[in-house]
Amino acid sequence: MDLKALRLIIPLTLFVAYKGVGCSSVQQKIYVQLNKTFPCVRLLNATHQIGCQSSVSGDTGVLHVLETETDLDWVLSSGPNPPYVVLMVAEHFNRSTMMKLKGSARVAGVAVVISKAGPAQGFSPHHSCPNQNSGVYSDSYGPELAGCNVTVWNPLGNSLSYEDFRFPIFSLHEGEEADVIRKCFLDHNRGVNGSDPAYPLCAMQLASHMYAVKDTATCMRRNDIQSRFSISPEFVCDALADYNVWSSLKPLNNSGKGHLDGESVVIAATRLDSRSFFWNEAPGGESAVGGFVTLLAAAQALRAVVEDHPPSQNILFTFFQGETFDYIGSSRMVYDMENGKFVIDLDNIHSLVEIGQVALHRNGQLWLHSDPVSRRNSSVRSEVEKLISNMKSTALNLSLSVAEPDVSQPLPPSSFQRFLRARPIPGVVLTDHMSAFSNRYYESLYDDAEYLNVSYPSGLSPEEQLEYVTDTAKTLAEVATLVARSLYKQAGGLDDHLSSINADPKIVTQMLYGFLVQSNNSWFRSLVSPDIVKNLGPQPPQYYVGVPTSGDPVKMPTWLVQYVLANFTGTLRNLTQTQCKNPEDLEGESKDLYSYFWVQGPVPPNSTQGEGYCVRAPVRLVKAHSPAFELHQYSSRDYSTWTESRWKQIQARIFLVASRDLEMLTLGVGVAVLLVSLVVTYFINSKADLLFSSSRETTSTAY
Ligand SMILES: *[C@@H]1O[C@H](CO)[C@@H](O)[C@H](O)[C@H]1NC(C)=O
Ligand SMILES: *[C@@H]1O[C@H](CO)[C@@H](O)[C@H](O)[C@H]1NC(C)=O
Ligand SMILES: *[C@@H]1O[C@H](CO)[C@@H](O)[C@H](O)[C@H]1NC(C)=O
Ligand SMILES: *[C@@H]1O[C@H](CO)[C@@H](O)[C@H](O)[C@H]1NC(C)=O
Ligand SMILES: *[C@@H]1O[C@H](CO)[C@@H](O)[C@H](O)[C@H]1NC(C)=O
Ligand SMILES: *[C@@H]1O[C@H](CO)[C@@H](O)[C@H](O)[C@H]1NC(C)=O
Ligand SMILES: *[C@@H]1O[C@H](CO)[C@@H](O)[C@H](O)[C@H]1NC(C)=O
Ligand SMILES: *[C@@H]1O[C@H](CO)[C@@H](O)[C@H](O)[C@H]1NC(C)=O
Ligand SMILES: *[C@@H]1O[C@H](CO)[C@@H](O)[C@H](O)[C@H]1NC(C)=O
Ligand SMILES: *[C@@H]1O[C@H](CO)[C@@H](O)[C@H](O)[C@H]1NC(C)=O
Ligand SMILES: *[C@@H]1O[C@H](CO)[C@@H](O)[C@H](O)[C@H]1NC(C)=O
Ligand SMILES: *[C@@H]1O[C@H](CO)[C@@H](O)[C@H](O)[C@H]1NC(C)=O
Repeated sequence: MDLKALRLIIPLTLFVAYKGVGCSSVQQKIYVQLNKTFPCVRLLNATHQIGCQSSVSGDTGVLHVLETETDLDWVLSSGPNPPYVVLMVAEHFNRSTMMKLKGSARVAGVAVVISKAGPAQGFSPHHSCPNQNSGVYSDSYGPELAGCNVTVWNPLGNSLSYEDFRFPIFSLHEGEEADVIRKCFLDHNRGVNGSDPAYPLCAMQLASHMYAVKDTATCMRRNDIQSRFSISPEFVCDALADYNVWSSLKPLNNSGKGHLDGESVVIAATRLDSRSFFWNEAPGGESAVGGFVTLLAAAQALRAVVEDHPPSQNILFTFFQGETFDYIGSSRMVYDMENGKFVIDLDNIHSLVEIGQVALHRNGQLWLHSDPVSRRNSSVRSEVEKLISNMKSTALNLSLSVAEPDVSQPLPPSSFQRFLRARPIPGVVLTDHMSAFSNRYYESLYDDAEYLNVSYPSGLSPEEQLEYVTDTAKTLAEVATLVARSLYKQAGGLDDHLSSINADPKIVTQMLYGFLVQSNNSWFRSLVSPDIVKNLGPQPPQYYVGVPTSGDPVKMPTWLVQYVLANFTGTLRNLTQTQCKNPEDLEGESKDLYSYFWVQGPVPPNSTQGEGYCVRAPVRLVKAHSPAFELHQYSSRDYSTWTESRWKQIQARIFLVASRDLEMLTLGVGVAVLLVSLVVTYFINSKADLLFSSSRETTSTAY
């Protein structure tokens, strides 16, 4: 019996010793959490899912830095330790490389290091024909113009943002964290003298597990089941949505909806949103900010004349959200106008002027696009021609020139197309491109302040930068003057007053600073309500439309545009904070006609807080939520169906892994030890009478 026990105990100690060896490499698993990464997430529409996804607990692979063609071979075929997580600089992040990685089972994820300036040849992960299925051109409307048949608007677009990747893709900016990862790779994953690298190896784990699958109809069905049968429903996806901002020269009664008798309105429209491949990274410089800053500056410029010499018609300024995703904002406004749920209806619209991408014009050359199909109608044609000649003559007194592209060319992607889907309305889209976009970074990370030359001489403090008038601000102010004067004329204003309508380059430069460089600046702080001030950051806002959350019911760009517009079109009221909240009973005040905003006001020197005052302005937020969701038509072809998946956890980290063999051995040893200890326990138990006869008796007597 002694011998038997010995036979068991000797291998047991050996196993434990062996496990100790395994332990030393396991201990090296030091995790480094990466804190400044941005994931690519899954979005869904009526028919597809796009974006990225990891397994529930994250995907792990040995890190490999992609620098040359050989590295790509290493990852795809020759490397001995798959799966790999590929770290690449942004120059390699193109369609051909990504599709090769997508097709390989040896890839567990990709991390892209973003540099400050974009690739010189341009980069756009968007479609080459943006929103082609949701615009006006289709089999029933100008079929010969549909699908970018005449002009490919975004020829650099490689559609990467619309691919469905089965592995996670993260981005991080060039800097400390990228260096930490590179060092881990250099220290551990390069073989000495051409030999294979030896364990332990540097590995990366990316976690971005997405709950929604397949398409919007599927995820909405799951949401529906959850909300019906679960006490604490766990939704899997949410519709992309936010708010449009609108304002008007003369206030419109917001309680009265539908047709307004005798009202004829000129609509001045632009878009508020943008996107990139990565979630909530969307600087939107040329694609959104240039246009809406121009329209805001135009609204401000009109202030000088409208009080004393109002034009005969009203002007409605509108800023659409979610346009990037099949025109969410404009399709909703048109839907509301058709259904008597907006302050005016389609019959009230006289004409429409849309500001597209305007910040990258060459030598002041701008283009007026119109729709060749509606122009076949003689009454529409004459209105469009009048509008165009108005704008051309207005430009004569400015350092700009305005021209029309070939009249057989269709409209570029624009909100105006959604109005034309409803009926032929005379209108134009003002842009800086005759045919293909001037923008070489459309809907990408590089469409930022730097690309628009919004940069400052070195050594300026943030406050000095805020006031510094850049050349970009000067030229955009010219464009804004053109827009303001054209709108005034279009709305029936007299030529005599045109010369007093001038956009202020100083205000334009402040807006460019706040919207593209840093939203936390003294000017923005003075314009917004005190509870929004704390959400202003040292970076610019991101222009991805996203989904509304309880903590973030309205997106920052929407808030900011609302408050800037309130400052530009509103007036100060001598009201207390409580009166400002509820001015209904006060003489001369009306919530039907105005919104009332309590804003922080300028902060006097030697003080931490502004006085606070009340601004009254005809500015409103209205839902930019696709009608497809109101109508429960999740497979709609007429309205945007884009949803964003919810996710479990977004996380990226690096650590060292022991070899798989070693890990298996460690596991095997663990199992063996368990089995052995079970046997030993059984053995000891069964022979307990013999082994512990005395002690057992004492314990039993203790009872
Ligand atoms: C990320 O944050 C955690 C906790 O704050 C910190 O321990 C870790 O070092 C950070 N990672 C990097 C790469 O700085
Ligand atoms: C959904 O998105 C995919 C990818 O961009 C596109 O091919 C498809 O046409 C879209 N479906 C609809 C109904 O728009
Ligand atoms: C894509 O990147 C690879 C390097 O990863 C490069 O060799 C290739 O030329 C690039 N392709 C294009 C179309 O730019
Ligand atoms: C594109 O337009 C040309 C005429 O401009 C026409 O012949 C051709 O059929 C069109 N293609 C499509 C796919 O509609
Ligand atoms: C690598 O090769 C060099 C010369 O080829 C040699 O001096 C060095 O010792 C080698 N290193 C290892 C770790 O084998
Ligand atoms: C606005 O319209 C509502 C409903 O039509 C009406 O009751 C209200 O008096 C109007 N307000 C003003 C200020 O005209
Ligand atoms: C930005 O500056 C560069 C170099 O000075 C110039 O070539 C480019 O046209 C400028 N872009 C804009 C939008 O002003
Ligand atoms: C032109 O469009 C208007 C509506 O905008 C319509 O009333 C008119 O009948 C159309 N004319 C022709 C010739 O189609
Ligand atoms: C240009 O400006 C001059 C002086 O301000 C004015 O008299 C003239 O009418 C303007 N011309 C146009 C086309 O606006
Ligand atoms: C607009 O902002 C400026 C600067 O903060 C301020 O002086 C002015 O009173 C504001 N006007 C309104 C109507 O809010
Ligand atoms: C503002 O209102 C208060 C009382 O409501 C009054 O005492 C004060 O003089 C007013 N200020 C101005 C500038 O009208
Ligand atoms: C602000 O404070 C400084 C010193 O604390 C003082 O010299 C200055 O006069 C103050 N300015 C104002 C406007 O009170």
